[in-house]
This record gives sequence, structure tokens and C-alpha cells, in this order.
Amino acid sequence: MTVLVTGGAGYIGSHTCVELLEAGKDVLVLDNFSNSSAEPLKRVEALTGQPVRLIEGDIRDRALLDKVFSDENIESVVHFAGLKAVGESTEIPLDYFENNVAGSLTLLQAMKAAGVFQFVFSSSATVYGDPHTVPIQESFPLQVTNPYGRTKLMVEDICRDLAASDERWSIALLRYFNPAGAHPSGRIGEQPNGIPNNLVPYITQVAIGQRDKLSVFGDDYNTPDGTGVRDYLHVVDLAVGHLKALEKVAKKTGCIAYNLGTGQGYSVLDMVKAFEKASGKDVPYQITPRRPGDIACCYADPAFAESEIGWKAEKGLDEMMADSWRWQSQNPNGFEN
Ligand code: NAD
Ligand code: WQD
Repeated sequence: MTVLVTGGAGYIGSHTCVELLEAGKDVLVLDNFSNSSAEPLKRVEALTGQPVRLIEGDIRDRALLDKVFSDENIESVVHFAGLKAVGESTEIPLDYFENNVAGSLTLLQAMKAAGVFQFVFSSSATVYGDPHTVPIQESFPLQVTNPYGRTKLMVEDICRDLAASDERWSIALLRYFNPAGAHPSGRIGEQPNGIPNNLVPYITQVAIGQRDKLSVFGDDYNTPDGTGVRDYLHVVDLAVGHLKALEKVAKKTGCIAYNLGTGQGYSVLDMVKAFEKASGKDVPYQITPRRPGDIACCYADPAFAESEIGWKAEKGLDEMMADSWRWQSQNPNGFEN
């Protein structure tokens, strides 16, 4: 039986393919390469010693999906494919709704038609908006502040309604906190498109000399050092979470959300210090005004994921930073070496 991995050539998808293949799963990737290329998957093949089957195509292409489901013996779908930049989503919201919402809808329709009901979805802690308190539990109210977040909440809502309508569905909504790091081999990692939006890729690009200095977005938040606090988790831990979620959806029906985070919050300045320690490089920075839409503090209560799917983050900040630096320094131009 095969696991269909949409968006499997991307950052989190490629790391998840490694874990799935190493666990003996048969993996089929569907990706349109809008934010990736075939190169990460070649490296996944080299890392695992196994071929990665790949279809270049789009989740919005219903005819293609029907053909894939009819040609292959697919048991479950891990759905990463989508657009993910919060700022961009405010500029081109229709593209976000089309890729993330209409694309997911087309995928779910094709799954239903093919009788495939096991679904693992890449959601995000962004569905909690600005939480009233931390750590964040899955039962907290959901509220979103930008089109990207709205696409995640809309797909979550679709999944909840679907599972309520038909007891054959078995859906895990994985709410990722802040994924960072890279595979310890240094062969796969995150390749930001243009100027990085996220903190860790920005730090690594400063360290390698591609950017002058980091802008720390605000030091007047109500946090211990005034800078924003987040729950950064190693992408390999996150990838393992998908394996655990797949085991769960194979056994239990319904639609359940799980926080995937470490439960530990770190500030922007904690991150700079941890990176400097792991890499031996200086990261010059300046304090700049807050970034619109940012919140002070966000970290998970990951207890439910541990009790329900047996998942817990194992890797700490030092490893995350060392692996980010190995990836950046060995691949200064990402996959275009
Ligand atoms: P990514 O951009 O590296 O990977 C997404 C992949 O999906 C890319 O390979 C892209 O080419 C592909 N894709 C996009 N639209 C497609 C379409 N219509 N059809 C087929 N393929 C398509 O992103 P990532 O960081 O690996 O994120 C994966 C998922 O996790 C996304 O859904 C994202 O919203 C979600 N997520 C990411 C983060 C994060 O910080 N990276 C946090 C929370 C949630
Ligand atoms: C982390 C902290 C910034 C860059 C975003 C999305 C979220 C999810 C993960 C997809 C904050 C500060 C950052 C910089 C900085 N993605 N920062 N200088 O904003 O927590 O989450 O990515 O689902 O939906 O919103 O992550 O890495 O952008 O920022 O000071 O150059 O670093 O203010 O405190 P964020 P981030």
C-alpha cells in the first residue's frame, strides 16, 4: 500500500519522505514544483538508498488525481502542497484560496471517489491567532488574522464537516508550531524563495554573508527580553510526527487536531545566541519596529500528541541550529549547487 505525499519535494515534505521510506513505506510524491524542484527528491533517494516515485502535477487537477488513484494502490494521503507565505497571502489572496482551499477540496473529492479516507493535513499554529494564554492547547479558540491562516482554518473546517458526515474518514490535522533545522546529513533543508520571511533562514543567510544583518522585529513585547517568543521544532522531529499520525489514522476514524511543538518557547535573541554558539559565527542584528501582525508569544502544549499518537520532539535548539548551519554552509545556494 502506498502513501501519496502531496508537496513532497518541499521543505517539510522532503524530510517526511526520508522518514516514511526509512520506515519501509511505499511513497509516491505529487508536486507541481511551484516552490521546489526534483533535486531534493534525488537527495532523498541518495540518503535512503531507495527510489522516490514522483508525479509532477497539481492537486487542483482532478483528472490527474483520478488517474493517480486509479493506477496506484493508495491507502493514505499526507497533504503538504500549498502556498505558505503570510505576507504574500495578503497581496494575492485568491491564489492562496485557490491553491490551499480549492486544491485541498479537489484532493478530498478525488480521495472520496477513490475510497481513500486516511488523510494527514499540514495545518499551522496560526489557526490559534493571538492566544489568550500559553501554552496553547488544541481546545483553544480558533481565530485567524490573515488569508494564509484563513486557508488553514477553512481546510480544517472542511475536514471536520467531512468526518462528521461519513464515519469512514480518518483525519489528523497537524498544527505545526515553528519548523526549523535541516536533515543532519546536510543534504536537504529549507530553500527560501527570495528574502526569507522566517527567522532561522534569515539568521543563516546573515551568517554566510548573503545578508548584512538581522532585523529583530521589536524588543518591546511583554516577554522576558522583549523580543517575540516562539516554539521552534526540528524538522526531522516534525517529519516523524507524520509517521505517527499515519499510524493513528490507520487505526482510528474521525477528525482530530494535534499540536506539533516542543512546549518550549525561545525569544529571537535566544535564537541568535544559540545559532552563534552552534556555528561559531557572529550574527549582527539591529532592533527595528514590530512586524505588523506578529504576536508576542506562542508555544504549544504538546501533551495531547504524546498521549494520543506517541509523538514527542526529541531534538533541542543546539541540534536545530547546528543542522541549519550545516545545511546553509554546505549548500550556500540551496539546491542549485
Ligand atoms: P514548501 O513550499 O517547501 O513545500 C510545499 C510544496 O508544495 C512545494 O514543493 C510546492 O512546489 C508544492 N505545491 C504548492 N502548491 C502546489 C499545488 N497546487 N500542487 C502540487 N504541489 C504544490 O513548504 P513547507 O514549509 O514544506 O510547508 C509544507 C506545508 O506545511 C504547507 O502546507 C505549509 O502551509 C504548512 N506549514 C508550514 C510551516 C512552515 O513554517 N514551513 C508551518 C506550518 C504549516
Ligand atoms: C519568528 C519570530 C518574528 C524574522 C510564521 C507564520 C506561521 C508559520 C511559521 C506557516 C517572530 C521574529 C522573524 C526576522 C525577526 N508558517 N523575526 N526577524 O511569524 O512565528 O510564523 O512561520 O504556517 O503561520 O506566521 O515565524 O520565523 O517569521 O518569526 O525578528 O527577520 O522571529 O517577529 O517573533 P512566525 P517567523
